Formats: sequence, structure tokens, C-alpha cells
Amino acid sequence: MSKLTLGVLASGRGSNFQAIIDEIDAGRLDAEIRLLIVDNVEAYAIERARRQGIENLCLIPGEFQSKDDFFLRIAGELKTRGVELVVLAGFMRIVRKPLIDAFPYRILNIHPALLPSFPGLHGQRQAVDYGVRISGCTVHFVDEGMDTGPVIIQAAVPVSPEDTEDSLSERILKLEHKIYPEAIRLYSEGRLRVEGRTVKITGYRPPEGHIVNPPLI
Ligand code: GRF
Repeated sequence: MSKLTLGVLASGRGSNFQAIIDEIDAGRLDAEIRLLIVDNVEAYAIERARRQGIENLCLIPGEFQSKDDFFLRIAGELKTRGVELVVLAGFMRIVRKPLIDAFPYRILNIHPALLPSFPGLHGQRQAVDYGVRISGCTVHFVDEGMDTGPVIIQAAVPVSPEDTEDSLSERILKLEHKIYPEAIRLYSEGRLRVEGRTVKITGYRPPEGHIVNPPLI
């Protein structure tokens, strides 16, 4: 089977991007990252791509006529490089129709909360402020809403009353780095089937030690 080709979109430090690189390097994920696109020059993800010899491109939304034009250009760049799956890794924008239409059910996102709780910015802070006892992270397909697409995998962490946004973020991030490559692996193995809001996973075995609650068939 040929390698799954990935395009990654990021806005910041890119630790999830790095986790995916590391899984590929370790031979645990049969994929190839063809392109990193960032939306600002400061994004540390660029440095990670350079170190790895991954082609990277910075596209500034303000330099486009409209948001749709920005996403149309992104779609074009990804298509040109033969990207099959688009991975949002801390990409701080709501993806618009031109990109979604170009990659139907072929865009993934990771969110630092158990969706549908606490969508949008600062999912970890929202969880701490609300006082929940359990939070976590979610990998989902991307649709036009904000963090609303069908859920692929979630992982849970306990939240204590002593937690701060930072301490909870740190705990959640460790799991993000595990479940994101895992979701990409499931996709690459053709195990994901979207039925309405539900993602069916065939033959899924959670990695040892994970508090993962996948929809098992
Ligand atoms: C992560 O918490 C992710 O869940 C959210 O943005 C953050 C990105 O972190 N979407 P990084 O850039 O991958 O380190």
C-alpha cells in the first residue's frame, strides 16, 4: 500500500505537527508530509518543518481578497502536491467551504476538550472555569462549523479543583500527541467510515495505557 500523503496547517508552536513527524520517523505511521502551510511568519511550526526538510509555505490571510480566496489558494497548493489528507494542527481559523469542498471528509482537527463541550478558543480554560471533573481532547473531521464535525477519537483526563489552564493544558497535550497520530493511522488504514454524525471504526484496538473511548464495532 502506498504512503498516505499529508498536508498540515498550523498557526503556532506545532507540537502536534512534531508528534506526527515523530510517529512517521519511528515507522509507526505510514505517511508522508508533503507540505506545511502556516498563516503567520512567527509560527514555530516552520522551524520544525525546516529541520525535517518538509516544504513549507506561509500564506497571510490579509493578503487575499477574501477568506474564501485564502482557502481556495490553500486547497490549490495542497492539491498540486498530491495531498490526500489535510491535518489541522493548531490552525487558528475556521476552515471555509472552498477547502472543505476540495477535501470532503479528508480534513482532520484536534481540539483540547471533549467536544461538544467547550468548542472554540481556550477549551482547557473553559473546562477549568466551568469546574468539570473530566476533560480531554477530540480528533474530528472538519465541517464548516467551529469544532462541530464527526468525532473520530476522544481521550479523557481528570480535572482537579487545583488545576489551572496551564496544568490542564499540559496534561491534555500529552494525550493529543498520542491520539492525533492514532487517528491519522486509522484513516490511513481505511478503518474510518462516516455515517451521519457517527464515525464507525473497524478493528480498532486502543494503544495500551490510553484512556480512550472509541466507538467500537
Ligand atoms: C492544541 O492544544 C490543539 O488541540 C489546538 O491548538 C493547540 C495546538 O498546539 N487545536 P500545537 O501548535 O500543536 O503545539
